[in-house]
Amino acid sequence: MSDETGSVSEAEIAVHWGEEAYFTPPESFVAQANLTDRDIRKRYSLENFPNYYEDFANLLSWDRKWDKLLDSSNPPFYKWFVGGRLNVSYNCIDRHLEKYRNKTAIHFVPEPENEHIEHVTYQELWVKVNEFAAFLRDKVGVKQGDRVTIHMPMVPELPVTMLALARLGAIHSVVFAGFSAKACAGRIVDSESRVLITMDGYYRAGTLLDHKEKADVACDEASAEGQKVETVLVWQRYPGRYSSPTPLKAGRDLVVNDELPAFRGKRVAPVSVPAEDPLFLMYTSGSTGRPKGAQHSTGGYLSYVTWTSKMIQDIHPDDVYWCMADIGWITGHSYIVYGPLALAASTVIYEGTPTYPDAGRPWRVAEELGVNIFHTSPTSIRALRKAGGGNPEKYNYHFKHMTTVGEPIEPDVWKWYHKVVGKGEAVIVDTWWQTENGGFLCSTVPAVDKMKPGSAGPPIPGIHPMILDEDGNRMPAGTGKAGNICIENPWPGMFQGIWHDPDRFVATYFTKYNKNPKSKDWRDWPYFAGDGAMLAADGYFRILGRIDDVINVAGHRLGTKELESAALTVAGVAEAAVVAAKDDIKGVMPEIYVSLQPGVEANAAMAKKVSDAVAKEIGPIARPRKVWLVPDLPKTRSGKIMRRILAAISNNNPDTGDITTLANPEMVEQIQKIHQAG
Ligand code: WT7
Repeated sequence: MSDETGSVSEAEIAVHWGEEAYFTPPESFVAQANLTDRDIRKRYSLENFPNYYEDFANLLSWDRKWDKLLDSSNPPFYKWFVGGRLNVSYNCIDRHLEKYRNKTAIHFVPEPENEHIEHVTYQELWVKVNEFAAFLRDKVGVKQGDRVTIHMPMVPELPVTMLALARLGAIHSVVFAGFSAKACAGRIVDSESRVLITMDGYYRAGTLLDHKEKADVACDEASAEGQKVETVLVWQRYPGRYSSPTPLKAGRDLVVNDELPAFRGKRVAPVSVPAEDPLFLMYTSGSTGRPKGAQHSTGGYLSYVTWTSKMIQDIHPDDVYWCMADIGWITGHSYIVYGPLALAASTVIYEGTPTYPDAGRPWRVAEELGVNIFHTSPTSIRALRKAGGGNPEKYNYHFKHMTTVGEPIEPDVWKWYHKVVGKGEAVIVDTWWQTENGGFLCSTVPAVDKMKPGSAGPPIPGIHPMILDEDGNRMPAGTGKAGNICIENPWPGMFQGIWHDPDRFVATYFTKYNKNPKSKDWRDWPYFAGDGAMLAADGYFRILGRIDDVINVAGHRLGTKELESAALTVAGVAEAAVVAAKDDIKGVMPEIYVSLQPGVEANAAMAKKVSDAVAKEIGPIARPRKVWLVPDLPKTRSGKIMRRILAAISNNNPDTGDITTLANPEMVEQIQKIHQAG
């Protein structure tokens, strides 16, 4: 744990959050659930490792069964289902056709509310994927093992593209559409892609954005760095009409919708690939340096997301499942595309901003489509709450199951989600995991475990986490202290490495707690997640956030989330973000940025209430140096609050870094002004 600011060197963080009362899963949910075995964690204990992972792989259709379940001879590089062969697009489409040909695979909800929702059946998906795969193979020359960068928004053509590449055994690298051309270029270069697949435009908050222009800049930048993109494929948001003001570049760009008619009726046999062939790269930023290309496998990854989608998301083929994340993130790969489609569910893809044109939009979508499983992030939940909630009670939908993912959820926000969005009827899972992990690592098993607001809960069956202190000692449960969460065992969804950088893989995730770099025993290679966490006496893990989100005030470690959670107990507070501001006396002190719910006045009394709540909930040590009441917090397009920018402002650092990926870049200047006015 980095500790430049204070004097404490131990990993332990004192945690002030109180223990919350349990919520019991509704009977009606338990009665229909996929996983009700109360002994599941016993069956999936370390003594039975790795054999229980056969259950995961058995959910898939294999062309050839594996010879060896796990090859752990070279830790921390593991090989799962060695000798097995399969194809991902076959598993997500072809194998469902006999039973579910006419069932909707994808519901596409365009952002403009006057455009019809599109329903793509499994048969239609099969036709589209085959024709596009034929085009990629026969016209563009894409082959097994090629890396192809995709920079596309939330449209059904995105999973079609991913599945067509998977059908050919090519490796996709999807870049979040909200990312800049520069970010896209960096990923093109690192993955050595010679093909870029994009779209002319898409809707965001009521505007049809020009997306194609980013492709031109990305290709120029990539070529300046030595990676030439030979072909740019452009999907049309409105088939038959080119919707971008940016011209096409002759000799390089092809409009997919113009090319496809030549491939009508073409079929491509799924390429049977070894289980260990990479399926995709997903770039994620580390705390320093260039983004890391997390490399995910075919067999292990698909087994893991399919099992967790079935048992933790409780997806049945007749469910309508909506995950509001973006496919450009790992959540979207695992839990919009691959998991739900492998289970023959209907998955919803929503193009735009959840609160567009108003906060009632998600509930109108849920009502129209009969969504019964809903999946989103604490940030979206807070944003919806801030926008007034959108009156879920006015809409006739019923969720049996809701997920939260991506950051710790404050107990107050959890309870709002449960009561207002879930109408008190839905079970909730708080799922903790990372881009590197492929799928969930901690969560309640929804029909088996009670829920505890603010806690991710026990491990996913088969995952064996532990909390280690700075010296690598295992910290016992129930001490009220937090340390570093690590995973003891390898699992099939775990990434295979960082693309082209095995040393960085070992150094970032394993070196910290490996005592013998020569050891060939996986037990000597705990996976270091980089999150602070605490294990309660009941076996529930509470995640405090990235270790670098911990603030050290006068030698006292505080999790930023704890302070934010305290601020959210004040009526009228919508969102809160805590940053460390340098202080001459205490090293650093917390400053808190707060946005208010509509109609709540921003005044000194409100700021004092927030400050008092933090001091009361956590202790006077945590009292913020300053409470800044601001119109909105700077957020990425995926909804993550950019604490880094706020920290720059609090520390009078004029360099707020790259703000091009923000959903609301104008906020930065506004907040700077508020800060200057003091
Ligand atoms: C980081 C990973 C997991 C896919 C989306 C984010 C934080 C994630 C939780 C949770 C508390 C959480 C951690 C983790 N995080 N889920 N349920 N409770 N914190 O993927 O961008 O790789 O971020 O998100 O800090 O390390 P990511």
